[in-house]
Amino acid sequence: MNVKAVVFDAYGTLYDVQSVADVTEETFPGYGEIITQVWRIKQLEYTWLRSLMGQYRDFATVTRDSLAYTLKCLGLEYDDASFARIMEKYLHLDLYPDAMLALEAMAEKKLAILSNGSPDMLNALVRNSGLRPILDAVISVDAKGIFKPSPETYSLIESTLKIPPREVLFISSNPWDACGAKSFGLNVAWIERVTPEAMALACLESETLPPSTMFKAIRTQMDELGFEPDYRIHSLAELPKLVSQRS
Ligand code: LAC
Repeated sequence: MNVKAVVFDAYGTLYDVQSVADVTEETFPGYGEIITQVWRIKQLEYTWLRSLMGQYRDFATVTRDSLAYTLKCLGLEYDDASFARIMEKYLHLDLYPDAMLALEAMAEKKLAILSNGSPDMLNALVRNSGLRPILDAVISVDAKGIFKPSPETYSLIESTLKIPPREVLFISSNPWDACGAKSFGLNVAWIERVTPEAMALACLESETLPPSTMFKAIRTQMDELGFEPDYRIHSLAELPKLVSQRS
């Protein structure tokens, strides 16, 4: 593998989507964690449903709609201000602690994000987290009007960076995204953000029992879609060495 570009999924890979839990817990005590998990599952489901229905709406809309669904399904009453406060956190998600150093160590490669996020959300997030100067491109699927894992979305990497798929390493923590990218023809590293060990510990140390941990459970398992990632990593810190290897 001769890697010229390293391209990252955003939500769940560079940015911790669970970091909204502080705001959701503050707003709805006792429900913080379950809100984040149902919200994320439903958010992704809506991207796939809208893509299949041919009814694209941008990720900001999908994220709002799935939050409304989540609060209603949990029977939580809310006002505009609390809703807006939770949504606002999506523009200030925590960067995973291993991200900045890893990106800096690969500065000689083309570095980019390819995300479902709409351009306004991604631009705000990248600016707020300080990643803007390090990235060569922030690519949103919005240009294609369909969500990952549609092959059209992954084709945006080559059309934007002018680097063919065989020279790109794509990194995602989302198993279905790793499969989609592999099926398209990219080199793929799946980052296991939630290890079985971390899961077991979380269940021991908290009173939260399944199914509220279901979201974490399904992220520890590669999808059965017939596409295996080329690499499995546990930290972005493993990447600089991986991308410097030549074969
Ligand atoms: C993204 C979602 C899938 O950033 O995590 O595209």
